[in-house]
Amino acid sequence: MKQQPKDMWNADLYDGNHSFVSEFGHSLIELLAPVKGEQILDVGCGTGDLAQQICQYGVYVQGIDQSENMIQQAQNKYPDIMFKVQDILKLEYNSEFDAVFSNATLHWIKQPKQALHCIYNSLKPGGRFVAEFGGKGNVQIITNEIIHQLESLEVPYTPEQFPWYFPSIGEYTSLMEEIGFNVIFAHHFDRPTPLEGDDGLKNWIEMFAGNLFKDYSESVKEQVISNTEHSSRDILYKNNQWVADYKRLRVIGIK
Ligand code: BEZ
Repeated sequence: MKQQPKDMWNADLYDGNHSFVSEFGHSLIELLAPVKGEQILDVGCGTGDLAQQICQYGVYVQGIDQSENMIQQAQNKYPDIMFKVQDILKLEYNSEFDAVFSNATLHWIKQPKQALHCIYNSLKPGGRFVAEFGGKGNVQIITNEIIHQLESLEVPYTPEQFPWYFPSIGEYTSLMEEIGFNVIFAHHFDRPTPLEGDDGLKNWIEMFAGNLFKDYSESVKEQVISNTEHSSRDILYKNNQWVADYKRLRVIGIK
């Protein structure tokens, strides 16, 4: 995650209310299957929880993230791991890693080909790229409703404002192949994601979709969030809990 122009990330809030992001990452580590002694780059490491879990396999992990707040928190929590503030689009590693791992980050990168190119260059020949991020249709019920509410208030909205890249399997694996990867695994799946508390949807929108509102006043933002809560409640509030309509894409590519 976390490749944003401005540091919008509150690392404490992220660790507190949104820890599900790294909790869902455990099974991605199983897919990574780290082998003792390997050098692994965690791209978009956030507050470092998955980097720390990967370390338990006896590998050398380096975590990078564009957010200074996240990296500071990661370094405080896990002083023995090397973390660095770095833009994925400016990686300068050359055949250094056995694996590049990335959880819940690549949907923030609207130049996917450039990101894949940097990842490919970072890997040793035969190295693997293992990633999960938002796939086609991710959080579409929520974002369609937000856009609909903006339009109802006659607030100008253009598709360029949409902060994410949620590709289909076909689109992303084709890009991987163009870069040179041998794609050995790709899976697009639903992951209904419970959001904590009665304000779960509001908190999620504020934490993750803040950029959608950056050109609007606070009152427009509040109105849109409140209308979105109201109009999507029938679909997204189940058994006394908000559930976000996450759809994920997992891929493995070999250099
Ligand atoms: C996701 O992890 O799928 C996600 C995170 C933030 C915004 C949108 C989607």
